[in-house]
Amino acid sequence: MDAVLQEINEFLGCPTPDAWIQEALNNQETLLIDHANCEKKAATTAMNLLYKHIDRDDLLKKMSQLAREELLHFEQVVAIMKERGITYRHVSSSRYAAALRDEVRKGVAEELIDVLIIGAFIEARSCERFARLAPFLDDKLAKFYRSLLRSEGRHYQDYLSLAAQYSRTPITERIAEFRALERSLIESPDPEFRFHSGIPVAA
Ligand SMILES: [Fe+2]
Ligand SMILES: [Fe+2]
Repeated sequence: MDAVLQEINEFLGCPTPDAWIQEALNNQETLLIDHANCEKKAATTAMNLLYKHIDRDDLLKKMSQLAREELLHFEQVVAIMKERGITYRHVSSSRYAAALRDEVRKGVAEELIDVLIIGAFIEARSCERFARLAPFLDDKLAKFYRSLLRSEGRHYQDYLSLAAQYSRTPITERIAEFRALERSLIESPDPEFRFHSGIPVAA
C-alpha cells in the first residue's frame, strides 16, 4: 500500500493543509455525512460512464466493479453514522467536484478522458485524506479509513489507466492542467467545510 500512497502523493499537486485536518477532526459529523454523499456520487459517476460508453469493454468491467464498491462503502459509512447516533441530514455538495467538472471539454472522446482524469484526482485526494486522518481518529474509524484507502488507491489507478488507454494522445499535459486546478481548490480559502473542501475560513 505504501507504494500506491507514495505514487498518489506525487500525483497530487499538494498535500492536504494541516488546517483542514484540524477542521475535519472538529467536525466529524459533517465529515461522515458528506463522506456518505461522496460514496453515492462516486457510484453515480461510474454508472453514468457505464451508460455512455457501452463499446468499451475494460471501462464496463472496471466501472461496474467500482460502482459496486462505492455503494458498499456508502452502506459502511451509513452504518458507522448510525452507531454514533448521527442523523443523516441533507448536506450541500462542496465546490470541489463541480469546479473540476466545469473544465470538462465538449466532444465524446475529450469528455471521456477529462472525466476519467478527474476521477483519478478525486480518488487520489480521497485516498490521501483517509491516510492523513487515520492516525488521529478513534480505532474503529481509523481502521475503516485505512481499509477505504486501499480501494480508493485502486480506483485511482483504474481511472488513470483507462484515461491513458482510451486517449489517442498523451495525457500528461491534461493531467498537469487538472493538477493545478485541483491544487488551487485544496489550497484556497473555502467557507464550507466538506470532505474535499479547501482551507477552512475562521467563523
Ligand atoms: Fe469509496
Ligand atoms: Fe473510490
